[in-house]
Amino acid sequence: MTIQNNIVWHPHTIEQKDREARQAHKGCVLWFTGLSGSGKSTLANALEQALYQYSLDSAPIRTYLLDGDNLRHGLCADLGFSDIDRHENIRRVGEVAKLMVDAGLIVLTAFISPYQQDRQQIRDRFAQGRFIEIFVDTPLSLCEQRDPKGLYQKARRGEIKQFSGIDSPYEAPVNPELHLNGALPLPELTQQIFSFLQKNQFYSLS
Ligand code: ADX
Repeated sequence: MTIQNNIVWHPHTIEQKDREARQAHKGCVLWFTGLSGSGKSTLANALEQALYQYSLDSAPIRTYLLDGDNLRHGLCADLGFSDIDRHENIRRVGEVAKLMVDAGLIVLTAFISPYQQDRQQIRDRFAQGRFIEIFVDTPLSLCEQRDPKGLYQKARRGEIKQFSGIDSPYEAPVNPELHLNGALPLPELTQQIFSFLQKNQFYSLS
C-alpha cells in the first residue's frame, strides 16, 4: 500500500543530531525477537530498568519500551495474527520506533516479529547502526514449559489458531547483532546486553 501522491516531506529545523547533542547517547532501537514465552518482554523490561538505574547513577539515558501485548490493546487493537496482520503490526511498530529514535530515544521493542522479511524491512528504514536485532533464542519446548499465559496449552488444544511455533512459523534471524541463549538466567542476559551496548558505545556520540 503506497499512498504518497501530493504528499511532500516537510523538513524540520531541529533534527535528530540537535536532540542528540543535548544527551549522552544516540537514538537506536533494540529489536527483541523470539517466540512467545522466550523472555523478550521480561528481558526488555529488565534492561530498561538497568538503563534507568545507570541514568540515575551516571549519564542520562532516555528509553521507551514498546511491547507486543500492550500495543495490541491500542495502536494495534484492530489486528489479529494472520500473516497480513502480523506484517502490519510490525510495520506500525517499526514506524513508531523510527519516530522515537528520531526523537533521540533508545527504543526497546518486544514483538515476536516472526518473519525475516518484515524485520529486514524495518531494518532498512533505519540508518546504519541504529537497528540492533536481539534474538532471544529459547527452545519451543522451554517456552511451552513456561507458558506464562497458558496460551500454548490453548494452542495445543486448538483453541487458538495461527500460534507462533505451533501452527504458524517463526523464522529465526539470519545475522542478528546479538544472539542470546534464552534459557540463561535473566540477570545474566540483561548483563550481556548491557555490556554489548557499552562496548559499542551507544551511550556516547564520539
Ligand atoms: S507478532 O507476531 O505480531 O509480532 P506480537 O508480539 O504483537 O506478535 O504479539 C504476541 C503476543 O500475543 C504473544 O506474546 C501472546 O501473548 C499473544 N498471542 C495471542 N495469540 C497469539 C498467536 N496466535 N500467536 C502468537 N502470539 C499470540
